[in-house]
Amino acid sequence: MIFVTGGAGFIGSNFILDLLASQDEHVLNIDKLTYAGNPYNLASLDGDERYHFVQADIADREKITQLFEQHQPRAIIHFAAESHVDRSIHSPGEFIHTNVNGTFSLLEAARAYWSALDSEKKAAFRFLHVSTDEVYGTLGPNDPPFSETTPYAPNSPYSASKAASDHLVRAYHHTYGLPTLTTNCSNNYGPYHFPEKLIPLVILNALDGKALPIYGDGQQIRDWLFVSDHCAAIRQVLARGKVGETYNIGGWNEKANLDVVHTLCDILDQQKPKAVGSYRDQITFVQDRPGHDRRYAIDARKLERELGWKPTETFETGIAKTVRWYLDHPQWVINIRTGGYLKWLELHYGGDAEETT
Ligand code: NAD
Ligand code: DAU
Repeated sequence: MIFVTGGAGFIGSNFILDLLASQDEHVLNIDKLTYAGNPYNLASLDGDERYHFVQADIADREKITQLFEQHQPRAIIHFAAESHVDRSIHSPGEFIHTNVNGTFSLLEAARAYWSALDSEKKAAFRFLHVSTDEVYGTLGPNDPPFSETTPYAPNSPYSASKAASDHLVRAYHHTYGLPTLTTNCSNNYGPYHFPEKLIPLVILNALDGKALPIYGDGQQIRDWLFVSDHCAAIRQVLARGKVGETYNIGGWNEKANLDVVHTLCDILDQQKPKAVGSYRDQITFVQDRPGHDRRYAIDARKLERELGWKPTETFETGIAKTVRWYLDHPQWVINIRTGGYLKWLELHYGGDAEETT
């Protein structure tokens, strides 16, 4: 069995679906089901005996210890986190709870379990920690992309909490020999992406006739990776990664936010044209994110060189699939837009999230 934490979130649910489509090992999804956790993402696994779910907080050491003892996993893939930068600016406490204390607690439970394994199982066990490129801070226009040796310089409460968790993982390998692997990935997009993040927010706001909020001048650059490519990279690192190492994962797709939003509008103009005008008419420039990182870019050559991984989707193919997925899954969209989601839009965007038509 493999443990997956945060498997009801965006990347975790894609990971579980992809994994179970390609092999038969059992998976236990440990998820607290915060606002970002959506078991409906995994509805296609109902009745699949390989899939197991427990609602639990990763910071609940007693519960996690009991799960380790009961299921004896050969690996844990740790996705669970508070993941939204804007929320970390409004209320950082939850980020410390889950990303720092939760990861610490999980490491302690894993270490106790791993220490008691026989030597063969001990050597085979893996703790794979899923992290982000944001720990490296921000780049100037001509800086080389982040490599695995770029010094950490996190700028938001979110990235600082992820950086802290990366350091703990590193220390547990260095000090106790826990067989850890860490991945630092760029911005993901694709199916099941919670619509607080730029790409799904813009698709759904566009279809609703609402403002498409661009922070600042919209010239901030992110490196976009289709989520199934990220999941494939994690499977490679789990299977063949060198214990104690870090692997950067990226799509070689640097795009300015405004260009991403223009692309989304153009695809929607073709696939679901408005009665009058273009979706671009809904673009609205709003107040910038405090401390907004200007540019991220990932050098993913180590992963390609050592483990043979390369992204399969270009931005053009991935973004077209993503828009199509949202158009084809109106029920998923209805289910995800609960009262809590609407409250977030009101808190964060206020009047800027109002309808434009
Ligand atoms: P997400 O916010 O969509 O999902 C997070 C999941 O973790 C949810 O299901 C939530 O219920 C669960 N969770 C939160 N707190 C928990 C707790 N205390 N105990 C148990 N479960 C808890 O996040 P995501 O976008 O899928 O990101 C997954 C991981 O990948 C995170 O660690 C994130 O830092 C990292 N990452 C994300 C991206 C991206 O672009 N989304 C890029 C690089 C790295
Ligand atoms: O780089 C990896 C990170 O990517 C992950 O670690 C995070 O978990 C994930 O949320 C993502 O962080 P970002 O802050 O880059 O993603 P977000 O979708 O929130 O924003 C993408 C860019 O778009 C960013 O420059 C801010 C901008 N933006 C975002 C929103 C929500 C806007 O201009 N308007 C918006 O309304």
